[in-house]
Amino acid sequence: MPLPFDGAISAFYETEAPDEIRTALKGADKDDVLDPGFPYDTRMSRKHYDKEMKRLQIELVKMQSWVRATGARIAIIFEGRDAAGKGGTIKRFRENLNPRGARIVALSKPSEREQTQWYFQRYITHLPSAGEIVFFDRSWYNRGVVEPVFGFCTDGQRERFFDQVNGFEEALVEDGIQVFKIWLNVGRAEQLRRFLSRETDPLKQWKLSPIDVKGLSLWQEYSTAIADTLTRSHSEHAPWTIVRSDDKRRARLAAIRRVLHAIDYANKDAKALGDLDGAICGGPDLWDA
Ligand code: ADP
Ligand code: AMP
Ligand code: MLT
Repeated sequence: MPLPFDGAISAFYETEAPDEIRTALKGADKDDVLDPGFPYDTRMSRKHYDKEMKRLQIELVKMQSWVRATGARIAIIFEGRDAAGKGGTIKRFRENLNPRGARIVALSKPSEREQTQWYFQRYITHLPSAGEIVFFDRSWYNRGVVEPVFGFCTDGQRERFFDQVNGFEEALVEDGIQVFKIWLNVGRAEQLRRFLSRETDPLKQWKLSPIDVKGLSLWQEYSTAIADTLTRSHSEHAPWTIVRSDDKRRARLAAIRRVLHAIDYANKDAKALGDLDGAICGGPDLWDA
């Protein structure tokens, strides 16, 4: 079977990738964390991860029954660069939940008709009803990051987005929806490692898109747009949570914990839940380019 995109990822790795990225990848063991700024040198052990994940899964189930019993509405937005781990994190959140009350919303690019609408319009129908938890795999924040980086929106459209986004989210929160905004922060070497494995693994190839390939050379443009977005949309009612995701295991645990900590569900077991790791999960100051 031919490689998707004619091996564009490995070609980038061989010829264009910055030297320090290639060097980081070359010498690395599979357990090594590649981001030099990451607070741990190696990823969490499988044993430790499974044990903690099991406890958190039990808490998630309690959380969902509370949501269904009380009619709470929860919206959790996942953002991050390509291959940051959005899909995998959402999968772990939902693993043991009743799928009927735990929907994923992963919209494709806006249709011609949608392009004529108010930018937030197509997302509104997907917001949670009573008893629902909705996971947004990407969201209206496309207009903060992907769209400007690829020229899919004008500067004027992006400015209007920033003029409206904080008020929009405040309206959701005022209406009683609990809104979480999770930014998964992946380093450049780790992103490339994940792309390379997607290129060769037949089970992962579907995750690669032309955007990913073109995005390889746009790291800096992304960084500018992300920094701008985090600054302009970090608000009191809907703050960003940054989760460092070079180690997927720590990242998934941290994202789940962050949400569980903030929801006042019945029979919460604070001990099973455990403390948040402030080196992995925190506010926008944790993000780095
Ligand atoms: P994903 O990483 O979500 O699997 P892609 O990397 O292909 O998907 O695309 C990233 C995001 O950019 C998606 O939310 C997609 O809908 C959006 N996108 C792609 N093409 C366009 C476009 N022409 N206009 C607006 N958004 C687009
Ligand atoms: P620049 O001055 O080109 O670095 O861009 C300033 C901001 O506008 C950055 O956050 C860019 O990501 C964003 N931007 C760049 N190109 C576009 C574009 N075509 N449309 C909308 N925004 C853009
Ligand atoms: C993931 O790893 O699930 C990504 O964040 C999705 C993507 O490739 O854009």
